[in-house]
Amino acid sequence: MASQKYFVYISLLLCFIFLVSNAVEVTHDGRVIKIDGKRRVLISGSIHYPRSTPQMWPDLIKKAKEGGLHAIETYVFWNAHEPIRREYDFSGNNDLIRFLKTIQDEGLFAVLRIGPYVCAEWNYGGIPVWVHNLPGMEIWTANKVYMDEMQNFTTLIVNMVQKEKLFASQGGPIILSQIENEYGNVEYGNVMFVYGDDGKAYIDWCAKMAESFNIGVPWIMCQQPDAPQPMINTCNGWYCHDFEPNNPNSPKMWTEN
Ligand SMILES: *[C@@H]1O[C@H](CO)[C@@H](O)[C@H](O)[C@H]1NC(C)=O
Repeated sequence: MASQKYFVYISLLLCFIFLVSNAVEVTHDGRVIKIDGKRRVLISGSIHYPRSTPQMWPDLIKKAKEGGLHAIETYVFWNAHEPIRREYDFSGNNDLIRFLKTIQDEGLFAVLRIGPYVCAEWNYGGIPVWVHNLPGMEIWTANKVYMDEMQNFTTLIVNMVQKEKLFASQGGPIILSQIENEYGNVEYGNVMFVYGDDGKAYIDWCAKMAESFNIGVPWIMCQQPDAPQPMINTCNGWYCHDFEPNNPNSPKMWTEN
């Protein structure tokens, strides 16, 4: 019967797709991150790849695993990768892709905090000096010159990672990705930088851009009490026990403690 034949074909095709793709589904509810539907308490530790050499990475990651971590988290360091406008460095200690593949080889998950603002006790929060010097620039807010550069670099990173199939949705190790970083601290907190409505417009724009990349894993924003949905607001701080994310569908997580 024709319909039976099609059923067999389709079943075979689905089996084939299932076998060749080792995609991992990362979802969440208001309590927890789920990996392929399994509820997980994930413990992650940070390794900033430019601060060590590729030769050191396997051992560092192995030790992290032996210490009980499930995931390695890193920022992405814009001024290391684009020291001169449109001239890139992904060699040696800056080899982000190799770092992510090393995490994968060791069987751990990765959390990719793209930023591209990073803090991280790193010069100028990772923002290249040439960005600061562009005409008409106001960094870190709804300023077209800044947003164009920020989008250009962020897109480059997402494209590189997608091309190498490193998001969990593609069979890679990355289960979460972060856009911007601790922006709520300046949007609201610090009297030196209160961006007000422009700050809010900027963070909404960041969230929209992040979503448009369709990376297939959740996005996080840390220290962002008004994180636009579906961005998950996470805690960075000494004390996260009283922290509540701003949406009942966001699990309580901390990215730095
Ligand atoms: C970044 O900007 C350059 C022009 O300066 C452009 O050629 C390139 O396509 C842009 N890259 C992305 C990923 O948008």
